[in-house]
Amino acid sequence: MSHAPSRIPANSKPVVSVRGLVRNFGNGNVLDGLSLDLQPGSFTALLGRSGCGKSTLLRTLAKLDPAPEGTVQLPDERAVVFQEPRLVPWMRVLRNVTLGLRRPDAEARGLAALAEVGLSHRAKAWPLTLSGGEAQRAALARALVREPRLLLLDEPFAALDALTRMRMQGLVETLWRAHAPAVLLVTHDVDEALLLADRAVVMANGRIAADIPIPLARPRRHGDPGFIALRSRLLTELGVDEEHLAAREPQRAEARAAGPTPGGYGLPAGAAAAPSL
Ligand SMILES: Nc1ncnc2c1ncn2[C@@H]1O[C@H](COP(=O)(O)OP(=O)(O)OP(=O)(O)O)[C@@H](O)[C@H]1O
Ligand SMILES: [Mg+2]
Repeated sequence: MSHAPSRIPANSKPVVSVRGLVRNFGNGNVLDGLSLDLQPGSFTALLGRSGCGKSTLLRTLAKLDPAPEGTVQLPDERAVVFQEPRLVPWMRVLRNVTLGLRRPDAEARGLAALAEVGLSHRAKAWPLTLSGGEAQRAALARALVREPRLLLLDEPFAALDALTRMRMQGLVETLWRAHAPAVLLVTHDVDEALLLADRAVVMANGRIAADIPIPLARPRRHGDPGFIALRSRLLTELGVDEEHLAAREPQRAEARAAGPTPGGYGLPAGAAAAPSL
């Protein structure tokens, strides 16, 4: 068991460093002096209420938005995966993966990335013939092929069914271990954050309102006392009343009590998805 890819030095220079970010769409500051550092190879979950500015922060880090007020230091090697796979429908899967990659070995790299996400057999398929999970794996391959030092994930599993979601969580953890990018994962799912991340940051009022280390050994299990304690703390930070949640969704409580799946991920097959906010 380990906590993180072992080759990452504990106190290395941050791969992402933002200070005093301010972003305003004309109705108050969405980002209001936000500062955040991410260490190389770290896995951070970003949580917060809907509309609090998580995607705005991610788009800023992906340089998809105009430069905001404040200072932003980012690596050149970045990749983003969104909730929807955003594949170009008139290009086959392999072409989607290598799109914009200007290197002589682009095709070989694309095929290797597709193999890593278990999609070699779909390299020549058209995107519209893929299942939701396959399309998201293609999107992950497209990110991977760029060898990012920063991987930004904006609710990448939100549209998937519970079982596919668990498999995708496992895949992302495997890819993170193998390639060690710094990952920033936006999620509404507290259990997902606790299964995958070393650190959870909670956004509120345009800033990082809480910064919580997740020093749990891997693979992680819902029933472990450390997991339960951190879950409680995160829900409190998010302003959620746990008892109210359990009363509203008894099926989830039963599923958790039944213990982890053989792979160590999530709830038993057929159970409701982990709590989302
Ligand atoms: N391009 C835009 N123009 C105007 N307002 C915007 C724009 N992008 C975001 N906003 C506003 O900024 C706020 C934060 O939006 P953002 O998408 O970052 O929230 P979020 O935390 O990702 O929410 P969710 O969890 O629902 O995805 C919202 O009030 C949203 O309406
Ligand atoms: Mg969002």
